[in-house]
Amino acid sequence: MRIYLSEDYKAMSRRAANIISAQVITKPDSVLGLATGGTPVGAYQQLVEWYKKGDLSFAEIKTVNLDEYLGLSPHHEQSYRYFMQVNLFDHIDIKPENTHVLNGLAKDPQAECAAYNQLIRDLGGIDLQLLGMGHNGHIAFNEPGDDFGLETHVVTLTDRTIDANTRFFESRDEVPRHALSMGIKNIMQARRILIVVSGEEKAETVCKAFAGPVTKDVPASVLQLHPDVTLVGDRAALSKLVEAGVPVCG
Ligand code: F6R
Repeated sequence: MRIYLSEDYKAMSRRAANIISAQVITKPDSVLGLATGGTPVGAYQQLVEWYKKGDLSFAEIKTVNLDEYLGLSPHHEQSYRYFMQVNLFDHIDIKPENTHVLNGLAKDPQAECAAYNQLIRDLGGIDLQLLGMGHNGHIAFNEPGDDFGLETHVVTLTDRTIDANTRFFESRDEVPRHALSMGIKNIMQARRILIVVSGEEKAETVCKAFAGPVTKDVPASVLQLHPDVTLVGDRAALSKLVEAGVPVCG
């Protein structure tokens, strides 16, 4: 695992965008696994900026997103499809048909999950999977205790995740209770993984995930078993890891 420490959120975002753009440049028809949430927004902005400058093209890129709320339409402002359109897809030359997000309105959610697993296989697998990490160590919607062997599945959100996501909705009641999410197995099958973390409030969990034992209690710890992971964090998020003596690159 490579660990890169950036001074602040902006520098972290730029570094993450550099790694993604290197993938896009070296394999222009890459399959990118993408994440939503606050952490990757800066990296997406940087990619858009480089695209607008003419340094990058996504014309042959395909994407698969990690997850989607069950019950939200793609046009709902808090749906992850909407997030991806607003933060990335609407501003670059990616073909709409090459962008894939789970359908939160699927009549048969189990069938939607099975079809998504098949889609990932049909695309030839994920070349680079971008991840964020929740305060409890979740990746995608794989919560503490979840089975590492799962592929895309229907998830019941934990109270903590509902609490954390309430800030995006009018009230806690409006936060969906279920989601569709890639499983740890899909994530671990990606050829490369890039995980971005920011902020002091994640420092403890970052330390547990990357310097502690691999355990289902901290889902992100499973990434220690992947052969090609890059962790990019700001100084605050990596502070406890540094204190624990884990070597990081500046
Ligand atoms: C989003 C996702 C989530 C987030 C995580 C961190 O697609 O899968 O696991 O990456 O909740 O979210 P932020 O970046 O908002 O702290």
